[in-house]
Amino acid sequence: MDFTLSEEQLMIQQAAKDFAQNELLPGVIERDETQKFPSELCRKMGELGFLGMMVNEQYGGSGLDTLSYVLAMEELSKVDASASVMVSVNNSLVCWGLENFGTEAQKQKYLTRLASGEIIGAFCLSEPEAGSDATSQKTTAIDKDDHYLLNGTKNWITNGGSAEVYLVIAQTHVEKGHKGINALIVEKDMKGFEIGPKENKLGIRGSDTHSLLFNDVKVPKENRIGEDGFGFKFAMKTLAGGRIGIAAQALGIAAGAYELALKYSKERKAFGTEISNHQAIAFKLADMHTKIQAARNLVYQAAFDKDTGKDYTLSGAMAKLYASEVAMETAIEAVQIHGGNGFVKEYHVERFMRDAKITQIYEGTSEIQKIVISRSILKD
Ligand code: CAA
Ligand code: FAD
Repeated sequence: MDFTLSEEQLMIQQAAKDFAQNELLPGVIERDETQKFPSELCRKMGELGFLGMMVNEQYGGSGLDTLSYVLAMEELSKVDASASVMVSVNNSLVCWGLENFGTEAQKQKYLTRLASGEIIGAFCLSEPEAGSDATSQKTTAIDKDDHYLLNGTKNWITNGGSAEVYLVIAQTHVEKGHKGINALIVEKDMKGFEIGPKENKLGIRGSDTHSLLFNDVKVPKENRIGEDGFGFKFAMKTLAGGRIGIAAQALGIAAGAYELALKYSKERKAFGTEISNHQAIAFKLADMHTKIQAARNLVYQAAFDKDTGKDYTLSGAMAKLYASEVAMETAIEAVQIHGGNGFVKEYHVERFMRDAKITQIYEGTSEIQKIVISRSILKD
């Protein structure tokens, strides 16, 4: 597989790296401490084209391939995984879902503004009783001829308080099981829609996570995505690509933690020499470097599959499973290599360790990725 990057891909990678270093890095510790969502930085990322990277230019996007998106996600995540999850949700769940399955009118009304970063979106599948078990939707969207009446609660929604547009999965025909589920576009100011309190989290604390409450929200019929009953397939197809974005986020967290550990190991002295000269430390670095490269190959492979029209459900799940485990392991080792300094905030690696954990949980836990992978290989 030839992953030689084109000039355009190298340019995107450099632009994301510069943005991360110059704009995200300065306030990242404060945003983590105060759980502040970076609205202003979000606006700037929109201006730079990072919020609709794969969307066709006719809808206000950058018209780039998945590999370019993955390169940008990695660079942003090397510095600030809270900012990068907002980028991932807007690009690969909200914009991708609307561009591929929305009507022309929905694209004109919503996608153009989402892709340019004028507004951001949220993807609302999880519920208090339907996380991994996503078909068990309790939120209902009752068919009332010209509109749906939406009732229920969504949990853990990224961009929950800051989004303007929400793609909400809900059950219409309970007797049909997952084939009775719909996906609806909900606007923030629709009557009966309430945003719950912000979650106080272990990691990605700068990301804006809320529960959402729907109480007799009238959603016009024209806001349904796809045919009646397409909602669960919509969620699954969209998540298959979303997982590539989260895999790239995990890769970035791993690479960011490794780069800091490598630098520190060449500066810190113990027993009369740099700690990188102690084989125990050098071998940790060797393991980290090897696993990161293996994760990168899986992530690029999944992006390549998507860009070349191949099925990427399996390669995306493998990339997410492996990259998220490498992120967790690498971040723990980066703290270890920093010794006591690793335990304090100004050295950044403790944040990487806290942020890494979520990549094993959201967009399908590691156990769910193993279900997707095993079903795929057993089917073949
Ligand atoms: N593409 C298309 N269709 C798919 C599909 C895919 N990748 N995966 C499943 N389906 C279809 C199946 O074909 C089936 O349809 P048919 O009956 O017509 O064949 C239907 O979906 C139901 O599939 P299963 O029978 O396999 O359903 P299941 O109950 O066994 O569960 C699951 C499957 C993979 C475990 C699924 O429930 C799942 O992915 N769970 C995890 C949920 C998740 O990832 N949530 C993430 C929320 S978003 C988020 O987290 C964002 C963020 O953090 C930033
Ligand atoms: P559960 O499904 O209750 O799982 C608990 C444990 O049981 C896990 O270890 C799981 O792997 C395991 N388990 C469950 N079923 C099986 C099985 N069949 N076999 C083996 N093990 C199993 N959701 C959205 O829809 N949109 C978002 O934007 C979003 N953002 C999020 C942001 C954050 C910070 C967090 C924490 C979550 C977010 N989520 C979002 C929700 C996330 O996708 C779910 O938390 C995740 O899918 C797991 O669901 P759960 O929390 O209900 O765990």
